[in-house]
Amino acid sequence: MIKTKLLNIGKDIHTVINELLQESDVLNLTQISPDFQCPAELSKLAEKYFRKGYNQYAHVDGLLELREAISENMDELYGVKYSPINEITITAGATQAMFTAISTFVNEGDEVVLFEPAYSSYVPAIVNSGGRPVFVQLKRPDYYIDWDEVQKIINTRTKLIIVNTPHNPTGSILSEEDIAQLRKITNGTKILVISNETFEHIVFDKRKPQSVSGNAQLAERSIVISSFGKTFNIPGWKIGYCLAPEKLMSQIRKSNMFQINSVNTPLQYALADYLRTEIDYSIIAKPYEENRNLVLDRLMNSRFEIVPSKGTFYQLLDYKAISDEKDTEFARRLIDQIGVALFPLSVFYHDSVDNKMIGMCFNRNKEIMEDACERLKKLNPIR
Ligand SMILES: Cc1ncc(COP(=O)(O)O)c(C=O)c1O
Repeated sequence: MIKTKLLNIGKDIHTVINELLQESDVLNLTQISPDFQCPAELSKLAEKYFRKGYNQYAHVDGLLELREAISENMDELYGVKYSPINEITITAGATQAMFTAISTFVNEGDEVVLFEPAYSSYVPAIVNSGGRPVFVQLKRPDYYIDWDEVQKIINTRTKLIIVNTPHNPTGSILSEEDIAQLRKITNGTKILVISNETFEHIVFDKRKPQSVSGNAQLAERSIVISSFGKTFNIPGWKIGYCLAPEKLMSQIRKSNMFQINSVNTPLQYALADYLRTEIDYSIIAKPYEENRNLVLDRLMNSRFEIVPSKGTFYQLLDYKAISDEKDTEFARRLIDQIGVALFPLSVFYHDSVDNKMIGMCFNRNKEIMEDACERLKKLNPIR
């Protein structure tokens, strides 16, 4: 076996299950691509720019028109100012932005604090840079951050704290109090913050999108990352962006230039035009909220215990009253016994913590969601 830095890192759970289920008729609630379509106007704009033959490289930092539109958007949505010239960079999705930002700042021996369960891309990026992930478990039942615990583990080697709001895979959200705590803990230190806000517009129960960038002091040490993939149901376009003060962005751009060089030109033009139309951001979460409500409604009187997701398209289910099997075994049983694929939560922990939790992506069409919930609802205890 050839020794590599990522030798011990496997495929992420969504890929594993999708490969397992290829061409089967199992109801797959683990796929991260939604069944919902992108806005028709955005498709038309994409077509327009392909037809126009905009086939050459875009600017290495991203199309200026798109950076300008994002800058205006951030001002309108959060009242914050990022310069399109030197504080915004377009990336090939949020995943690349995360990898680039982490590899820019993490050096050999640096510690990076991250909260588990965690999205799978952070650890490989940290390890690849010679850093050491320091894990803090989110506290159940609603997966909140214990800031006293964070305070105890930070030290002079701590380079970065990574937060994610709304959170994949728990559906929790950082509150204003959390953001104030994060500011307090990092104040007077050299610690940087990466805030993954990929799901910023998918928030429920009349919540407003919120960003770490809205806290001026925190924004000075923060790299904010988002993606058009979730916002406009275009994950396959792979276009995201990264915002940071110039002193940080100037360094990120050096990595970005050599990791990706430039992102899809015609689709950047399409997005730049689209962002300047009247977009009603308040309706973006609607189909997801309807699906979340459907799940809560159908499974309310089942044996699953549920803390409602506050955002994203992830809902966790506690199955202790049904089985004491390991979550990986239980997920396997659900596929074999009722033809529904959910993900085991333990795979989102470095040490496979098994709290008897499984999760679903409620981004499928209504019929699939209904059918899956009906099958789940009928589950009897297995002992
Ligand atoms: C927390 C989080 N970050 C990033 C991504 C991927 O974003 P992108 O497709 O823009 O790379 C996902 C996808 O599910 C995600 O859940």
